[in-house]
Order: sequence, then C-alpha cells, then structure tokens
Amino acid sequence: NGPAPADLIIFGGTGDLAMRKLLPALYHCDVDGGLAPGTRIIALSRSGLDDADYRGKVDAEVRPALHGSEGWDAFLRRLRHVPVDVTTPEGWAGLAGLLAGHEDRDRVFYLASPPLAFGPFCRGAREAGLVTPGSRVVLEKPLGRDLAGAQAINDEVGAIFDESQIFRIDHYLGKETVQNLLVLRFANSFLEPIWNSRWIDHVQITAAESVGTPGRRGYYDQAGALRDMVQNHLLQLLCLVAMEPPSRNDREAVRDEKVKVLRSLRPVTGADADRFTVRGQYTHGLVDGAEVPGYLDEPDKNPPTDASRRVETFAAVHAEVDNWRWAGVPFFLRSGKRLPSRRSEIVVQFKNVPHAIFPGATPNRLVLRLQPDEGIHLSLMAKEPGAGDIALRPVPLSLSFSDAFSARVPDAYERLLMDVLSGNPTLFMRRDEVEAAWRWIDPIVRRWEGSAALPEPYPAGTSGPAGAHDLLARGGRAWHEEEL
Ligand code: BG6
Repeated sequence: NGPAPADLIIFGGTGDLAMRKLLPALYHCDVDGGLAPGTRIIALSRSGLDDADYRGKVDAEVRPALHGSEGWDAFLRRLRHVPVDVTTPEGWAGLAGLLAGHEDRDRVFYLASPPLAFGPFCRGAREAGLVTPGSRVVLEKPLGRDLAGAQAINDEVGAIFDESQIFRIDHYLGKETVQNLLVLRFANSFLEPIWNSRWIDHVQITAAESVGTPGRRGYYDQAGALRDMVQNHLLQLLCLVAMEPPSRNDREAVRDEKVKVLRSLRPVTGADADRFTVRGQYTHGLVDGAEVPGYLDEPDKNPPTDASRRVETFAAVHAEVDNWRWAGVPFFLRSGKRLPSRRSEIVVQFKNVPHAIFPGATPNRLVLRLQPDEGIHLSLMAKEPGAGDIALRPVPLSLSFSDAFSARVPDAYERLLMDVLSGNPTLFMRRDEVEAAWRWIDPIVRRWEGSAALPEPYPAGTSGPAGAHDLLARGGRAWHEEEL
C-alpha cells in the first residue's frame, strides 16, 4: 500500500526556501520511494517561466548541492511551473487548468511566501474552486509579527481551511535529534524520576549560527532574532524538554502537553524584560578566520534604516516554567547570528551531589546536540587512574548518531513533507500553540521597541554580548561554551 498520487503546489516556487530546502528534500523523498508515480510538484510564481525553463533552473541551482543524482531526471519530470497572480480571478486560470480532472487527489498548498500573502492566496484558491476536501495547506513561519497578526492570519486561513487541514511548519520539529528527545524521555525509564526541579539545576537551549544576514535585510529588520528563532524554534524545544509525558504519541496528546508548557511560562513584562532578556547586534569581526562586516554593513539592496540599527541579531532570555515539575528551574534560551560556529544544543545541567565526599566533583550534564554532529552526551564524574589521592575528572558518555546508525540523517524538511503528504500533523504547530507563544513574546518585544536603548554590540565571531553572560553569572551559572 504505497503512497497515492498527490499534487504538491508550492506558492513561492522560485524562492530561496523552495530552491534551498523544499526541492532537495522532495528529491530525497522521491529517491526513498515517498512520492507515488504521478505525484506532481507544481511551482507557482509570478515569473513567466514554462515547465522547461523551470526544470532548467532547478537543474542548475538545486542539483549541484545534492548528494547523488540517482533518479534526478525522473524527479525533474514531476516538476511544473505555473504563473499565478493571486490578485485577480483570471490569475488562477493556469493552475485551475492543470488541476482540473485531479480533484480526487490529495492536494497540498505549500505557502513558502511572506505571511501577508497567506490570506489572499487561500481566498483566491477557494474562489477559483481549487480547495477540495482532500486539500491541506502548509504555512511557513513567521506567522505574523505579534499575537494580533498571528490571530488575523489564523482567522483568514481558518475561514477557508479546517484546522485539521492546516499544517504550520516549524522545521526544528523535523530534526532527528529533536524527535529523539521525545524517544529519550519517553522510551527510557531512568530519566523520568530525575527530570524535575529536585535534580535539575537549569536548562540551556542554544541555536548559534556563524552565518550573517547578507541579502535578508528586508525580512530581518522586521523580524530580529526573537521573532525569527526564539518565538518558534527555541520555544518548541523548551516545550519538548519541559512537557509532561503525553498519554499517546498522537497529534492531539503531544500538542496538548506542549501548549500547557507555553501557558505555564511566567510572563516577562515591563521592567522584568530588562532583567531577564538581552539583545545584541553583531559588528565587524572574524568568523572562521575571515573578516566579515557588521549587520549594518551587510551587502543588501535595501540600505540600513533606523529599524536596522534597532534590530537584534542575538537574543537571550531567562524563562521560568511555573508548574510543579519546574518551579525554580531557569530555562536560558539564546540564539544569534555570526557567532563562532553553527551549533544547536540543549544542555540539561543537573544539581551537585547532595553531600560531597570527594573534592572536585562537578555536577552532571546532559547535552543533546541537534547540529552539526547529532548526538547525546552525558558528563559523568570518574576517578583518574592512579594510586595516589583520588582525583576526579568529568568524562563523557557519548552517543553519536552517525556512529550508531549508518543511515543518512534526513533533512528536517524531508520528514515534515512526508508527514504533510500522509496527513499527519503531530509535528506541526496547532493554532493555540502559536498564539500562546506569541502571547509570551509580545511583552518582551513591546519593551524592547519602547526603549531608547539600542541592542548591545558584539563583534562577529564572539559568543554574543557581555549581557548574555551576566544573565547567567548573576545566579552563579555560565553558558556551556565548548566549541561555540
Ligand atoms: C530559519 C530562520 O527559520 O531557521 C533563519 O529564519 C535561520 O534565520 C534558520 O538561519 C536556521 O535553521 P537551521 O536548520 O539551519 O538551524
């Protein structure tokens, strides 16, 4: 019982996301047998490309970045390009013609476009008669710039698609290690008894990137690190660390538990935002031995404005989950561009032993590495070999996924696209989740936007502004900096 033929329609089909992520992921799904014979990938954009032009473009831009090219020509034959103008009824004719006669297929509208276009696209598709009972819609982040914006988009899309047809994507949820976190927590028995404030001192969640934002000023000036990374990716990771065990691994049970965590986050409002958050912006510096410009000097077609001076390229937040399990355990989140390396990880820092009989013991630490080298590392105290006085040393107990499993680690989008095609929304964000996350982020943004202060500068290639270190140092803690 293989997959049934479907039509996957990508709005924004010539854009960066389609070229860099979606098409490579679909190619790998195809090679792995995930796309049925006859499944079509229909790219929409305003350009006047025909199928052959589009296939040529994909061949030139996508193929060189792939590992392997088995089945590439067959994949290219699945691709179509249709010019669409969502602002006029006539602008839909080409797509309507291509879809006519295929109403019984699963139809996926993937909106890889700025969120302002989500509502007009959905309305236009319905008016053109293209929304069938078997249709789904995938919404790329960011879903708005604040709670009100997210609610407006959810209302607009929700007027046309049922919640069960809406797939809000957060690609971090498709990463292998992120899914492994659930398996680690809920398919092993030894962690659960110690997964609480009695044993855990604090949790750190870091998404560090060495890349800057060249060519992205138009988007990034309006977003910043808090909206771009913390509101979605980092809060989702926090939910998976902090959630209660769901009763089943199903769409509603998992998402119900995540939304409870978001609702338990202590609001960071008013002057608390000055104490519990830090924002920074990179200046000129050295990354991997190469000189790179500061944010304001990044090459871009848009010149820097006041919004550019005010936007943060680094954000750190001290969050508290006000519930029985986590009372008094800080969750420190940080994300930034132009840090020394690309590294995403969750660090669970345990408390020290209640009574130390050996000098020099340091508390255990569990590190879940999301990227680059996916794995799980537990630091244990061990005795250094030798006959003299007992000397202690932390040694890692390590699981590297690439050593343990020989299979290729699929990209997050592969997993998520297959889930959309099979109609499984477990790893997608429900409306109440997205809105709960914005409800917590909004007061922080308001405080930042209302302040005369600019983000703290940090030279590119360093681990962020000094304030981020102070955020932890106040409580006698420090970021886990190995290799950052
Ligand atoms: C995206 C952000 O959601 O995630 C980008 O918009 C960021 O700014 C990217 O670079 C990071 O994703 P990954 O998978 O490379 O960690």
